[in-house]
Amino acid sequence: MPETGTPTTPGPEEDVVDLLLAQHAQIEQLFLLVIGSTGDTRRDAFDDLVKLLAAHETAEEEVVHPLARTLPGGGGDAMVDDRLDEERQAKETLQTLIKGGVDADGFDTGIILLRDAVLTHARYEERYEFPQLRQHVPVGRLRSLATAVRAAEASAPTRAASQRPVREGQPGRRPGAGGHRPGTRRGAQAFGELTGISRAVIRASA
Ligand SMILES: [Fe+2]
Ligand SMILES: [Fe+2]
Repeated sequence: MPETGTPTTPGPEEDVVDLLLAQHAQIEQLFLLVIGSTGDTRRDAFDDLVKLLAAHETAEEEVVHPLARTLPGGGGDAMVDDRLDEERQAKETLQTLIKGGVDADGFDTGIILLRDAVLTHARYEERYEFPQLRQHVPVGRLRSLATAVRAAEASAPTRAASQRPVREGQPGRRPGAGGHRPGTRRGAQAFGELTGISRAVIRASA
């Protein structure tokens, strides 16, 4: 999905735009996996998608959008307000899907609608917002923001994974379809936790 052809390899040269572009591509791949799979594969892919979307959109809301408001030539507040509105609508749809779970009637339709909305939103960011960051924000600042976002992500999945339900007598095993595995609850739990963790880490490193 990234349109700029920007390298996305993590490293000291990576800036926050590289990172967000790479995440857009990962989000698109996870949507493909969720839509094209069933059963536990779909459940796991959906949980991964929920976690990545939570971390990604939180980073944008905490770091990227506020920064973009201050830049010349990007449409300023109106452009950022449009992006925030798209993110709010996507979150509402996502919460509905989490609540119903991957086996619910309407999940197939809902996940396609969500994918279309999220990918369109990402494309707008790439077209109208990221170029302004590259043009107006010093590269050192963009790189330090990438470090902050990476730190948020590094702490978040570990905590979410540690709270996965495990079958009694089978430590470390991820329960299958026959176990008591509240996949939707896990997704909702992860969504809330990751959002909080991301915000805390990003604020601490600002
Ligand atoms: Fe976004
Ligand atoms: Fe994004």
